[in-house]
Amino acid sequence: MRKLVVAIDGPAGAGKSTVAQMAAKELGFTYIDTGAMYRAVAWKSLQQGKTVTDDLINDVVKDIDIVLNYKEGKTKVFVDGTEVTAAIRTPEVTGIVSQVAALGPVRERLTDLQRKMATQGSVIMDGRDIATNVLPNADIKIFLTASIEERADRRYKEMKAKGYDVDLKKLQEEIAARDKADSEREISPLVQAEDAELLDTSDMSIEEVVKAILDRCR
Ligand code: DC
Repeated sequence: MRKLVVAIDGPAGAGKSTVAQMAAKELGFTYIDTGAMYRAVAWKSLQQGKTVTDDLINDVVKDIDIVLNYKEGKTKVFVDGTEVTAAIRTPEVTGIVSQVAALGPVRERLTDLQRKMATQGSVIMDGRDIATNVLPNADIKIFLTASIEERADRRYKEMKAKGYDVDLKKLQEEIAARDKADSEREISPLVQAEDAELLDTSDMSIEEVVKAILDRCR
């Protein structure tokens, strides 16, 4: 099969990474979780100082070493050689990641890295600006979404399963705030590309969404 580039964008909690990882495994493609890269920068910034300022973040992104190791349907994330796979999913990191993702120097460096990663064979890359900015020539572009209630409910179950004591209503508010910040920022905001296909997964199972992606790739 020739090299295929698949871009999946959408708001927080739409299930992008879950279905993208499963589809990539099925197809033997590499999966690139760009959200994890913004989270990696947020994590390192939190490690560096109690008050995370834009200057600190812009400094951190200059020489951060981020490695995404995708194997058999799972991604391990490393920052400067330390595994941070779980550490980048804490509420603290989630709380500042929109601030991190709004900064020009951060987006420039990570976009650069993402484009380089996409040259290594067939890939599925997910994020917010993949179809619009990172890989505008992607062969397949999907905008994955779901109702805010459904997305909050999915995140709630995911966080509970990880042992976090979370409040559904608060989670819904946080997701709404992150959607707003990601969609209204000046640089590469979250928006459906004109040539992307909208897939509303509110009433779909994970398997149905994966099948929809596989059908398009095949
Ligand atoms: O998908 P996620 O929740 O792990 O993403 C974390 C944050 O990173 C999210 O608030 C938006 C931002 N992000 C971005 O701005 N551009 C991307 N390509 C991927 C994520």
